[in-house]
Amino acid sequence: MGLPRGRLFWLLLLLAAACSGILLALYSSAVEPYPGPRSRARNTTSPEAFFRFKTSNSGAGKSWPCPRPLHLAIQRHHHFRDVFNLSTPVLLSGPLFTQDLWDSLSQHKAPYGWQGLSRQAITSTLSLLNSSESAQLFAASRPPLRGCIRCAVVGNGGILNGSGQGLNIDAHDYVFRLNGAVMKGFENDVGTKISFYGFTVNTMKNSLISYWNLGFTSVPQGQDLRYIFIPSDIRDYVMLRSAILGEPVPEGPDKGDRPQTYFGPEASASKFKLLHPDFVSYLTERFLKSKLINTNFRDLYMPSTGALMLLTALHTCDQVSAYGFITENYWKFSDHYFERVKQPLIFYANHDLPLEATLWKNLHAAGILQLYQR
Ligand SMILES: *[C@@H]1O[C@H](CO)[C@@H](O)[C@H](O)[C@H]1NC(C)=O
Ligand SMILES: *[C@@H]1O[C@H](CO)[C@@H](O)[C@H](O)[C@H]1NC(C)=O
Ligand SMILES: *[C@@H]1O[C@H](CO)[C@@H](O)[C@H](O)[C@H]1NC(C)=O
Ligand SMILES: *[C@@H]1O[C@H](CO)[C@@H](O)[C@H](O)[C@H]1NC(C)=O
Repeated sequence: MGLPRGRLFWLLLLLAAACSGILLALYSSAVEPYPGPRSRARNTTSPEAFFRFKTSNSGAGKSWPCPRPLHLAIQRHHHFRDVFNLSTPVLLSGPLFTQDLWDSLSQHKAPYGWQGLSRQAITSTLSLLNSSESAQLFAASRPPLRGCIRCAVVGNGGILNGSGQGLNIDAHDYVFRLNGAVMKGFENDVGTKISFYGFTVNTMKNSLISYWNLGFTSVPQGQDLRYIFIPSDIRDYVMLRSAILGEPVPEGPDKGDRPQTYFGPEASASKFKLLHPDFVSYLTERFLKSKLINTNFRDLYMPSTGALMLLTALHTCDQVSAYGFITENYWKFSDHYFERVKQPLIFYANHDLPLEATLWKNLHAAGILQLYQR
């Protein structure tokens, strides 16, 4: 009973089984370029060195400017300076909705566009996201601390089990979490702070079903918490509109759901953010262009929720640390940190985790993010 029951899940499972050969091939091609364990002995980028640096810096550093802003590391890097465009709008809000945007996004399926989606549903959602708050992730009332926004993005990887990183994570200005982000009972390893929770309605509901008996019995809630909707389906636009209005979902597979049960009693536009479909396309095209796009899985493929949150942070924060993300030694750890018995990580056909692992490793080596590894 611990498995998601949606039709998509079973479809994916079948597809995953059918194409495990392709995946294995892809996987080994993505893994081969990894240098062996010997190269991990490099001193400057070793996790120990970095996390020691952060800890010593977090208390006394109140007046410090950014010691290593990621935009400088991007500019200096021969490859990543042509990949990043930090001017790309990250969020979609009402004022960005134009006829041109409709025409262009109607040519692509979700999550990259609006093909086949109801214009009425989309415009009625976006008209609620029309204040300047909806266009930016960080509240203007909370200015960048020390001129430097330091973010931690916490994936749910088993590497966090026994990591003792809770205090380091909570020492960041903003903490992003996603999907089955269980904190109760794991405070020592994953911390307690949460500024953003990222999800699609599908991943959120699947997490509640799959991880209920492992402690994920409710979506995180809190006064300072903001929700980041990933627009993977019309369901996301419909749920978002209902959440802002504080009304039950009027139609579709989530009909009758009360958004307050997920997001708490506060219903207001300022509580909810929506990723721009063009941002999701840009990320996929520039950072995570999987070979799966050339297979029958084209329409299923999208970057993982964790990848979208980490790349969102990299486009909005000055410094980013990633915890609980896939590393080259992922097989040493359980799929998730909150499992009681070690579960192997399963590679489904809708994501390309080996490609993501390579990206995090390369961004870490470039000094653009700090990837927690052990
Ligand atoms: C790494 O540290 C060891 C000793 O701690 C030292 O011998 C070695 O030269 C260092 N390597 C680099 C690349 O700094
Ligand atoms: C970066 O994105 C902005 C906004 O979409 C666009 O106007 C600009 O041309 C892009 N720059 C490059 C170098 O692609
Ligand atoms: C935003 O939309 C709402 C509802 O459509 C409207 O009442 C409000 O005046 C709009 N606000 C702005 C700033 O456009
Ligand atoms: C979590 O770590 C502990 C020891 O640190 C280990 O005994 C346990 O098996 C791990 N849990 C999983 C699910 O891997």
